[in-house]
Amino acid sequence: MLKKKPTCPIHGCELILSHHGKKSNLGHYWIEAQGAPILYCPECHERGTDTSVEVAAEASNAFLRKLIRLYDGCEFPPELGRPRIRVDFNPGRAVPDGLPTAGQQPLYQVTASPSGPTAADPDAEPQPETEFESFRPRPPRHRLDQLVLDAETLARIREAVNVLLSQDLLFGCWNLGSVARTGRRVALNFYGPPGTGKTLAAEAIAAMLEREILVISYAELESKYVGETPKNIRAAFRRATDTGALLFFDEADSILGKRLTSVSQAADNSINVARSTTLIELDNFDGAVIFASNLVKNYDTAFLRRVLAHVEFRLPATEQRRQLWRGHCPAELPIHADVDFELLAQYSENAAGGDIQNAVLLAASYASLRHGEEQVVSMADFKRAITFLLDGKRRILE
Ligand SMILES: Nc1ncnc2c1ncn2[C@@H]1O[C@H](COP(=O)(O)OP(=O)(O)O)[C@@H](O)[C@H]1O
Ligand SMILES: [Mg+2]
Repeated sequence: MLKKKPTCPIHGCELILSHHGKKSNLGHYWIEAQGAPILYCPECHERGTDTSVEVAAEASNAFLRKLIRLYDGCEFPPELGRPRIRVDFNPGRAVPDGLPTAGQQPLYQVTASPSGPTAADPDAEPQPETEFESFRPRPPRHRLDQLVLDAETLARIREAVNVLLSQDLLFGCWNLGSVARTGRRVALNFYGPPGTGKTLAAEAIAAMLEREILVISYAELESKYVGETPKNIRAAFRRATDTGALLFFDEADSILGKRLTSVSQAADNSINVARSTTLIELDNFDGAVIFASNLVKNYDTAFLRRVLAHVEFRLPATEQRRQLWRGHCPAELPIHADVDFELLAQYSENAAGGDIQNAVLLAASYASLRHGEEQVVSMADFKRAITFLLDGKRRILE
């Protein structure tokens, strides 16, 4: 929200308030929005330069995202087709005075055209593609307060996320979109050992942005048919654009690793094509995307240049391990009085958050095999579980 009127970045004059802004960045074929309050420079408007800034954009965007989610989750009877939805943020042209203040919800009116084009109608406008149904964004499953990290890593995540939270100010008011090579797109790269919270952090960021998350793993992109993988990659980016979801690529090193120089096999070539496709899609993408990987050394430099921030996820130190043990024991879990999370933290060096999560489950299952008063998780259960897990991991790594 804006406290005082910003000025035109080109002419320096004070911007004028209008309630006729059209939201053209929805990326949704069937929903359109108009009547958004914008501040614009009359001189720039004359010249056809768009330096306008939308006010109260966060509130109206949140509403539109919800509407899009609702719409995309609906089944429409084929005989009726999809309705076209128009959202007017200035219904009845009752123009309120002054700038919307913080927390003020914009007024809106939603109208649906009663019958959209039907599938059987030869003159129907093209339906959005419905293949790749498996690429479905979903609500995030974690919040930022569940993430246990050292202060430095948390600060780096917050800084990176702030670029997303302050998009209207940075790219709108301050017009940084005009100088940023990357446009409005924000790409982050999370790297570090497995089970250190990369996926959890991505979910928490989506929750913070009040967006859904579209999780794509390499296994889903890869196809046994040559030529299908790039198609899948394009579909993933398109889905994220259409829905406004945060795009999350897990195991990203497999698609963004260094280009293979000797292209001896068709399969190798298809890896290179997948890589180039991802870079091209990334360049055309306007949303938020997070890549996660365990092996960062393998990344292609062309990709590295396109990422705003790289955040390393390290194995948790003793204090974080204590919080992780605590945080993974729900209030309902019966715990013996001898359990000391401080000691457990010291005992579980080299354990990642994921190991601790598994150890709690395993320890609880040991306790569940006992009866009566014995059916509580003891210090011995936790120790046995984490030793078992870490030993197993060590043997595999060796
Ligand atoms: N830093 C962390 N903070 C809180 N929980 C964590 C953390 N790291 C791991 N965990 C726990 O382990 C689980 C798996 O972690 P995940 O985010 O999938 O790790 P990664 O994506 O780095 O492999 C999480 O769901 C969470 O329960
Ligand atoms: Mg993960």
